[in-house]
Amino acid sequence: MPTLLSLLTFATGCALVSAHTLISYPGWRGDNIHTNGTAPDGSIIPGSLGINYDNGSYGFPYGMQWMYPCGGMPTSRNRTKWPIGGGAISIQPGWFPGHSLAFFYINMGYGNEPPNMSHVMVPVFQITGPSNLEYPGQFCLPQVPLPANFTPKIGDNATIQVIETAQHGASLYNCVDITFADPSEVAQVNSSNCYNSSGPNDKIGFNLVFTSTSLSSEAYPSIQLNPALSILGPLALAIAAWLWL
Ligand SMILES: *[C@@H]1O[C@H](CO)[C@@H](O)[C@H](O)[C@H]1NC(C)=O
Ligand SMILES: *[C@@H]1O[C@H](CO)[C@@H](O)[C@H](O)[C@H]1NC(C)=O
Ligand SMILES: *[C@@H]1O[C@H](CO)[C@@H](O)[C@H](O)[C@H]1NC(C)=O
Ligand SMILES: *[C@@H]1O[C@H](CO)[C@@H](O)[C@H](O)[C@H]1NC(C)=O
Ligand SMILES: *[C@@H]1O[C@H](CO)[C@@H](O)[C@H](O)[C@H]1NC(C)=O
Ligand SMILES: *[C@@H]1O[C@H](CO)[C@@H](O)[C@H](O)[C@H]1NC(C)=O
Ligand SMILES: *[C@@H]1O[C@H](CO)[C@@H](O)[C@H](O)[C@H]1NC(C)=O
Repeated sequence: MPTLLSLLTFATGCALVSAHTLISYPGWRGDNIHTNGTAPDGSIIPGSLGINYDNGSYGFPYGMQWMYPCGGMPTSRNRTKWPIGGGAISIQPGWFPGHSLAFFYINMGYGNEPPNMSHVMVPVFQITGPSNLEYPGQFCLPQVPLPANFTPKIGDNATIQVIETAQHGASLYNCVDITFADPSEVAQVNSSNCYNSSGPNDKIGFNLVFTSTSLSSEAYPSIQLNPALSILGPLALAIAAWLWL
């Protein structure tokens, strides 16, 4: 999880999955670095942000998608086959308001139950949506590569994590669990399921996110069309399912 740094916050990195933030001024609600908010008896205090334990079951008052790392969803049993050399990811970004601008992160976690989702697949990028309300439309990256220095074998499992941050920084998490397969075993994507919508109500544009040391035309991320297309299921309830039960 990216750590927000501001003049008033001090970020302290933790060796584990997510970084943690300490608000040294003007203070904070409490020490949430080492605790998870669970009461001593194991219950979750009603009104806890993000998760409630009410009447015998867990609830997500703000919606499950805000929960790191996979929007509150456990690892799925129906893994999708995805090409061993990387493949397509198609996303519908406009299911919630607040995304006329949004940052996207696409990461991978290795194995059956990834210990973290810290392996970056594409550099962060920003989209522009047609409005700040809910909107239709999708975009598709036809050839998302594997993280650097990762060479899985056919049959290995992994999880792709897609993070969308709203303009105020709230992050929506969504994952798809995959099994690496030979591209010939994976249904190819085509113009009907992997496209960038461009109508007046669903046009989605892209902005690159630069760092000051990479202001050159070579800084474009490696999101390129590649004829070796393949499929993958996506974010926010999108997509076609070539799955594998
Ligand atoms: C919260 O943390 C406590 C103490 O570390 C641990 O015993 C408990 O299982 C955790 N609860 C959840 C829901 O992770
Ligand atoms: C709590 O759960 C019980 C059993 O499922 C149900 O009968 C009752 O209506 C619930 N109460 C509330 C306030 O939801
Ligand atoms: C896996 O099954 C769940 C529950 O039926 C479904 O919602 C989800 O779309 C499926 N995922 C894939 C990748 O097919
Ligand atoms: C993340 O998980 C990988 C294994 O998938 C492990 O090698 C790596 O050390 C972990 N990174 C962190 C920061 O825990
Ligand atoms: C990948 O997941 C599938 C389905 O859960 C499982 O049968 C298979 O053994 C896993 N592969 C590896 C290499 O663990
Ligand atoms: C794209 O692929 C899907 C599934 O393989 C197929 O149903 C659809 O007809 C194809 N569309 C085009 C335009 O080829
Ligand atoms: C959608 O737009 C992005 C950014 O310009 C591009 O990388 C991608 O290839 C496009 N997708 C398709 C299916 O053309």
